[in-house]
Amino acid sequence: MKMNHFDSKAAEWDDNPGRCEMTRTIVAAIQTAVPLNKTMHALEFGCGTGLVSRELLPRLRDVLAIDLSPGMIEQLQQRIEEGGLQNITAHCLDIFTDPPTEQFDLIFSAMALHHVQKTDALLDRLADRTASGGWIALADLDTEDGTFHDCFEGFIHHGFDREELMQKLRDCGFCETAAVTAHTMHKNDRDYPVFLITARRPVT
Ligand SMILES: C[S@@+](CC[C@H](N)C(=O)[O-])C[C@H]1O[C@@H](n2cnc3c(N)ncnc32)[C@H](O)[C@@H]1O
Repeated sequence: MKMNHFDSKAAEWDDNPGRCEMTRTIVAAIQTAVPLNKTMHALEFGCGTGLVSRELLPRLRDVLAIDLSPGMIEQLQQRIEEGGLQNITAHCLDIFTDPPTEQFDLIFSAMALHHVQKTDALLDRLADRTASGGWIALADLDTEDGTFHDCFEGFIHHGFDREELMQKLRDCGFCETAAVTAHTMHKNDRDYPVFLITARRPVT
């Protein structure tokens, strides 16, 4: 992937009203599907400027927010400092090649999964990083015809089939899989539904 795509967009990322609206609906869907609480240690991968993490933060113990793009992480770091946010840490990391070593009570992402080529291998790693009884919450595009990314150079999945993704999660040992439509993006005179899939690690 050409990471300068996200670096070059980072400074204006939060100014997009459609993106802010999508964040609001994804956050609401996560809050409905996952019993969040202040003991939860959470990971967001592909956090961008931390739009979703910053909204969920008051309901969690802490968040480790990671992204491959230095520009995105720089923006998030600025917001952390300006807002005096205590319980969020931002790191420039590749979730695939350099996953955090600790376990999390919640792992979430918004519109990042389709940028990671090897979905199965990634889900395996995330399952390994999810604590007993912990949750995963993945928001991304339903299968689309390739028109969503009109000017993106680099690898992308054209969305995901919900049933296939939930089966992959079950194959990795997750249970209680569920899917809802969290949002519908309007772009290019078309509708692109965005799902939230949640699942849980069995309590061991
Ligand atoms: C479409 S943006 C979404 C950003 C943010 N989640 C949001 O909703 O505003 C996708 C993000 O995923 C990040 N990303 C892609 N592949 C990644 C990887 N392997 N590890 C960490 N972050 C990754 C990109 O750098 C980018 O910031």
